Amino acid sequence: MLRFLTAGESHGPGLVAILEGLPAGISITEAIIREDLARRQAGYGRGGRMKIETDYAVIQSGVRHGRTMGSPIALLIENRDFSTGNGPDGKPWTHTMSKEAVEDEVTPIHRLRPGHADTPGISKYAAEDARDILERSSARESTARVAVGALCRAFLAEFGIEVHSHVTNIGGVEASTTDGREPIDWAAVEESPVRCADPVASKAMTEAIDAAREDGDSVGGIIEVIATGMPIGLGSHIQWDTKLSTKLIAAVGSLNAVKGVEFGTGFAQASLRGSKVHDVIKPTEEWERGADGSWARPWPRRSNNAGGLEGGMTTGEPLVVRAIVKPIATLRSPLPTVDTATGELTEAHYERSDVTFVPTCGVIGEAMVLITLAEAMLEKFGGDHVDETKRNHAAYLATVGPRFGA
Ligand SMILES: Cc1cc2nc3c(=O)[nH]c(=O)nc-3n(C[C@H](O)[C@H](O)[C@H](O)COP(=O)(O)O)c2cc1C
Repeated sequence: MLRFLTAGESHGPGLVAILEGLPAGISITEAIIREDLARRQAGYGRGGRMKIETDYAVIQSGVRHGRTMGSPIALLIENRDFSTGNGPDGKPWTHTMSKEAVEDEVTPIHRLRPGHADTPGISKYAAEDARDILERSSARESTARVAVGALCRAFLAEFGIEVHSHVTNIGGVEASTTDGREPIDWAAVEESPVRCADPVASKAMTEAIDAAREDGDSVGGIIEVIATGMPIGLGSHIQWDTKLSTKLIAAVGSLNAVKGVEFGTGFAQASLRGSKVHDVIKPTEEWERGADGSWARPWPRRSNNAGGLEGGMTTGEPLVVRAIVKPIATLRSPLPTVDTATGELTEAHYERSDVTFVPTCGVIGEAMVLITLAEAMLEKFGGDHVDETKRNHAAYLATVGPRFGA
């Protein structure tokens, strides 16, 4: 079983993640984690903090001489802001976030921010200061998930599974979506300030971000995560909670600010006839064989509107998961709200905030897909050492072609 936990507050000393269940024998370095953490920090429309923090995950356990040992992998990511920066009232974060009681009082946040965890959070946890809630509900936590996702990426690469993402909409500016089978220039995506391969849309998206910034406002959008190299049959149709679709919706939907998750042509299918939606299977004469003569990919389709999932299982076509991301809730022109101390109308608390984080969401969405796929691969193929997992994977793939006349 693969499982992970994260801990840490946005302005505390750092973030911690523990991933348990990765087999032994996977090549891991801090440098490969850093690559994904750097991708998470980029993106047009993001503000000051991204320039302050240079996220780096230090491996504390589970890796020896560059390889996993099968034991839990613990990661520690320092919040550099904590030791060097000043928080509210010009006081250092070490004071605002001190774990010991402080004499010199920290000004509590009473002006609740609509669109955040503040209001239900203070009610449920009986918090006097909304900072007790916002420090953990902040998407800073997703840094730890991206680090865990990088570990899962290294595992999945052993099986030829790759996970990428791009932005298909920011503030209503649309770039084309894909069925995961047309080649996408991923290098161009990484170079685009909004992580969009379409240069025309990319430019229009940056303009939409600039316009929102000028108005003290924010914009949301849509990200698309694509996984290729999928074996057929991950997940199961047997129970609601064994379906890979269930797990992916939960994993991607758990991302801060995500308000909808769809697969393939998703919500658009509501307006189409069945004949225009379902993915016809090609006859074997059109299948391709691998170098060793076996079927490179059994049961290929003429289209991939399903986004690589049928009955809660992978079809072998690329997995295409899209997530709708709401606009940032903390606005430079703050929304009206209520002060918890006086009950009076006021303006929502403003603390350094971005205009959009949609490009970053793609990278975090990748992490959640990577973790979910790694779990599904281990559920299907098991293995304490990655070579065992690979043997099981290869043996399974040899059985999944046609059994005509069997
Ligand atoms: C990468 C990322 C960065 C974010 N940055 C901000 C931000 O700067 N300001 C803000 O108000 N919300 C930001 N958010 C959104 C909040 O974390 C989140 O929307 C809010 O806490 C409410 O969560 P919910 O919409 O999931 O209920 C960010 C989200 C992500 C994924």
